[in-house]
Amino acid sequence: MVKDLYCHLVYDIREKKMAVYSKKDDFQATIQNSYDKMSDLIAFDDTKAGVKGLVDSGINKVPQVFILPPKYRVKTCETHISFPVIDLKGIDEDPIKYKEIVDKVRDASETWGFFQVVNHGIPTSILEKTLLGTRQFFEQDTEIKKQYYTRDIGEKVIYTSNLDLYSPSVPAASWRDSIFFFMAPNPPSPQEFPTACGEILMDYSKYVTELGFSLLELLSEGLGLDRSYLKDYMDYCHQSCLCHYYPSCPQPELTMGISQHSDTEFITVLLQDDIGGLQVLHQNQWFDVPPIRGALVVNIGDFLQLMSNDKYMSVEHRAIAKKDGSRMSVACFFGENPLQSSKLYEPITELLSEDNPPKYHATTVIDYKNYVLNKGLDGTSALLSYKI
Ligand code: OGA
Ligand code: NI
Repeated sequence: MVKDLYCHLVYDIREKKMAVYSKKDDFQATIQNSYDKMSDLIAFDDTKAGVKGLVDSGINKVPQVFILPPKYRVKTCETHISFPVIDLKGIDEDPIKYKEIVDKVRDASETWGFFQVVNHGIPTSILEKTLLGTRQFFEQDTEIKKQYYTRDIGEKVIYTSNLDLYSPSVPAASWRDSIFFFMAPNPPSPQEFPTACGEILMDYSKYVTELGFSLLELLSEGLGLDRSYLKDYMDYCHQSCLCHYYPSCPQPELTMGISQHSDTEFITVLLQDDIGGLQVLHQNQWFDVPPIRGALVVNIGDFLQLMSNDKYMSVEHRAIAKKDGSRMSVACFFGENPLQSSKLYEPITELLSEDNPPKYHATTVIDYKNYVLNKGLDGTSALLSYKI
């Protein structure tokens, strides 16, 4: 069903507009004789080996399509500020502790839009196995990996490099490969998962769903709503998992691991390894999110900023490319269900008053996601176009 909704939406260079193609061949035919960059992108895409394939082939320079215009390149980054870390220990036992944690989560969501959690209930061994299994997927034989390579976002398992590769507003391709899984409400069957990471991802998903629900309860209480408000609104729930592999990069200063963006869903729970590279925009400066063994990074997405009427912030973030070592991260998104295509998301009535009128128009998931997808990760927030 999702497949029908999204089709193959690509930019038709000749017609200079978005167009829907049912086959990549049709798309290729339309761009003959056009821009060189496009043929480089297609050649790269056709290898189905991703950025990892480039690195394996022994390149020692970043190819042109990955080189950012200078204004988009990374400059300095502040590191000497304490990034919020919230200890969830005792959350289920002590009402006073619970209230303290609600306050910390609310403060961090209002100011940073980002925080890390420790003592969150997911064993460190599960986190490490998740990072290992997903890494093994990317580092296995390309021929096995290739069978999952697709740009069809109606698939339940999507291995690709730069989902927005052909988006015209994206200044350059990014130095990463990714694999995406729809986990709830309709997860892939065990046979549909890649062998390298299927079992551990199914396990991890159970743990992270529980944590995601606890976080949504804390966030609901932080808004002064019933504990289950956001969970109920999401209808228990849409969850997807996006695993990124950032190969080591010979010229990291010229490109980016994932370019500046905000996440669209309600919340993201991100597991990262110890290489580092994730940065968050805070008070107009970029800050590193330091890797902490056993911790998870949580951030607010656009839908929660919209529904909380700007109380919680969906903050821009990025991951820089690194020279020494390949980096793994696993982002789990909790949010709206794309199968409920007509459901409206809008600022929560209970939060509105004469002094706090709605700041956003209502939207549907499909409308919002299509807008984000066409736009690509171009460094601008999709929320802006829904502002009243
Ligand atoms: C994302 C994201 C950051 C990272 O997947 O939306 O921001 O560190 N990932 O991989
Ligand atoms: Ni993100």
